[in-house]
This record gives sequence, C-alpha cells and structure tokens, in this order.
Amino acid sequence: MKIYLINGSNRKKYNTAQLLDATAEGITDELEKQDKEAELEIINLYNLNYTGCKSCLHCKKIDGKYYGTCPIKDDLNKLLPKLWNSDAIIFGSPIYFGNVTGQMRSFLERLIFPKYVYGGETLANPKPTAFIYNMNVTEEYSNQMYADSIYNSVEGYIEYAFGKPYSLKSYDTYQFNDYSLYKHGFNVEAKEKQKKEQFPKDLEEAYNIGTQIVRDIFGK
Ligand SMILES: Cc1cc2nc3c(=O)[nH]c(=O)nc-3n(C[C@H](O)[C@H](O)[C@H](O)COP(=O)(O)O)c2cc1C
Repeated sequence: MKIYLINGSNRKKYNTAQLLDATAEGITDELEKQDKEAELEIINLYNLNYTGCKSCLHCKKIDGKYYGTCPIKDDLNKLLPKLWNSDAIIFGSPIYFGNVTGQMRSFLERLIFPKYVYGGETLANPKPTAFIYNMNVTEEYSNQMYADSIYNSVEGYIEYAFGKPYSLKSYDTYQFNDYSLYKHGFNVEAKEKQKKEQFPKDLEEAYNIGTQIVRDIFGK
C-alpha cells in the first residue's frame, strides 16, 4: 500500500505543508487503529524539474509505445507510474492568481492527460483522493470571486481520472511570518485571529480526511 501527499507550495513548513502533515497524521493514526500498513510519501513539487504537458500526443497514439503513459524524460518520468499505481493521492496547493499554483497545474497535466481518453473512460486506476487548498482571501471573497470555478475545474479532472476527491478549503491563511516586516494591506489582528481560531479547525478537517481515506482504502 502506498499513499502520496503532493505539496504544490515551495514552502515546506507553511500552510499547505501543515495541512498535508495533518492529513498524514490522520492516515497514520487510522492505519494504527485498524492494524494496517501503508507507506506514506510527501512529494514537494518545487524540488522537481519538469514541465507541463507538451502535447506530443504519444499518450494517445494507437498501438504506440507510450499509449496511456508519458514519454517526457524529466523528474516526473519515474514518479508518474508510481502515482498511477498508488492507493491514494492527496493534493495540496495554495491559490495563486485565482488558481492552484502553476507548478501544481503543470503536474496535473502530466498526471492526468496520459490517462485521459477523448470521449471515453479514464485509463487510470480509481483510488481515494483529496484536494486541500489554502489562500489569502476570506471565504466570502472566494465565494463571490472564485465561486466554484477553480475548484470544479481542478476536481473535475481528478474525478474523471481517479474518482471524486474530498475537498478542503482553508481561507484567510497567514502568509508572512512577521507582518511588520513587509508591505501589505492586511488587517493583522484579523489574520492572527483566523490563525488562532480557524486554522486549527482546518487542520482537524485535514486530519479527518486522512482517516477517511484509510477507511476508504480498507473498506471500513
Ligand atoms: C504569486 C502569488 C500569488 C497569489 N495569489 C493569490 C490569490 O490569487 N488569491 C489568494 O487568496 N491568495 C493568493 N496568494 C496567497 C497564497 O495563496 C497564500 O499566502 C497561501 O497561504 C500560501 O500557501 P503556503 O503558505 O503553503 O505557501 C498568492 C501568493 C503568491 C506568492
């Protein structure tokens, strides 16, 4: 059994990383509770060199050597088959300019397009998945400005490939370690309140997604 957590932020100790760590903790605790074993691996996308899909279309070529897979020789080359064959994938990304990070989008192109069949069913194995977002804006702003467009687009492709993902949005997150050192227009008191009162609840939800994913894998 192998479960992957994908960090789409460059920052290894901030919001995305903490939310994914909470999910990993939920997974570990539930595995222990059920007396089951699975290996967990965190992939930091910003540590890898890769591009998005290059539209070479080898993955769609009938009887081609690369049908259903990807011929690009970069840091995703060995990783993608491991993800396709894994038992669960949890994606985490900040929102950058109203979408998941560019690094995450390029990664999703490479992960999903080879398994995408025009007018047909996915070539990928179904598996439990989750997408955990975090962002500067408040829930109200996200509802007004982003509506469900970002989330539906990202999750729609994940659902097509692997099955419907669990979804968690952590709003109004703490961006700077010390707001006094940077130029910004945020209400620091409100940010601190959110960090103290709401973020721990988001971590708890992320933890619960981890426990649920283990239950889904082992059918409990
Ligand atoms: C280039 C860039 C663009 C961003 N664009 C947005 C945005 O459009 N909406 C938003 O809510 N936050 C935006 N943010 C803020 C991040 O989403 C937020 O700080 C997030 O918590 C960062 O995640 P991390 O702490 O895991 O790195 C942006 C940050 C950067 C660096």
